[in-house]
Amino acid sequence: MAKDLSGELRGCRTLITGATGGVGPAVARVLAEAGSQLVLVSRSHDKLEDLAASLGLPETDCLIHACDLTDSKQAKDLMIAMLGCPGPLTGIVNLIGRWEAGKVTTLNDEAWHGMLATNLHAVFYVLREVVPHLADGAAIINVGGELPIEGKGGQLAYAVAKGGVLTLTKSLALELKPRNIRVNAILPKNIDTPDNRALLPDHETTHWVRPEEVAELILFLLSEQSAKVTGALLPIYGME
Ligand SMILES: NC(=O)c1ccc[n+]([C@@H]2O[C@H](COP(=O)([O-])OP(=O)(O)OC[C@H]3O[C@@H](n4cnc5c(N)ncnc54)[C@H](OP(=O)(O)O)[C@@H]3O)[C@@H](O)[C@H]2O)c1
Repeated sequence: MAKDLSGELRGCRTLITGATGGVGPAVARVLAEAGSQLVLVSRSHDKLEDLAASLGLPETDCLIHACDLTDSKQAKDLMIAMLGCPGPLTGIVNLIGRWEAGKVTTLNDEAWHGMLATNLHAVFYVLREVVPHLADGAAIINVGGELPIEGKGGQLAYAVAKGGVLTLTKSLALELKPRNIRVNAILPKNIDTPDNRALLPDHETTHWVRPEEVAELILFLLSEQSAKVTGALLPIYGME
């Protein structure tokens, strides 16, 4: 039987980047239910406001911050905004990402750099700013995917950027061991999001992973239950 993790994050504060996408709201809800205060980030202030309202948390427990994290200056400003929160940050969940298809012969400079900027550089910018302020014993969860492990034609820049996230995860896990900060990555395949349903209308979705299931894995990785897990790349491919 799955262990009950309700209340597991009481006294914690978790930064979620990419909070308003297909997966973010479920993650925010599960972490809030586990007792965590939240910092929610994406580019759209309106979407962040809607998400915060749907969670029903007191304003003091839920900071929203709209910014473009591909700009390192804006990542710095995010950290400055978080300095106003009481107590240190205890977790980072990097859901920020963007998918675009493209082969070696069709990816132009803009598409290539854009994929790396959103999926890899932004994650690095956030970590560079926030890690010095993280509580010792904190946890970081990044999102890779199936592609950088298994490979797949036609999604080259995305796969390479996510591959960078996996290397970053393993290397940072070693860097941060002295502070007892754990760094792990989850590797989803198809998640049952509105975007995926629109993109793959004929696909059988029964065995796709639900956003709530991704959220439960993230909660486990933030919690004391995974206190000895670091540098792990955890597939959550579903049962296709
Ligand atoms: N869905 C899947 O099947 C699947 C599979 C494997 C891996 N993943 C990965 O899992 C993560 C979550 O997936 P998802 O489906 O929720 O993705 P999504 O729907 O595309 O959401 C991406 C999130 O990132 C934010 N974002 C994008 N560019 C940004 C920028 N420059 N600055 C700040 N925020 C930015 C978006 O908000 P704004 O656009 O409003 O800024 C949104 O909140 C992503 O990293 C994705 O690559 C997803």
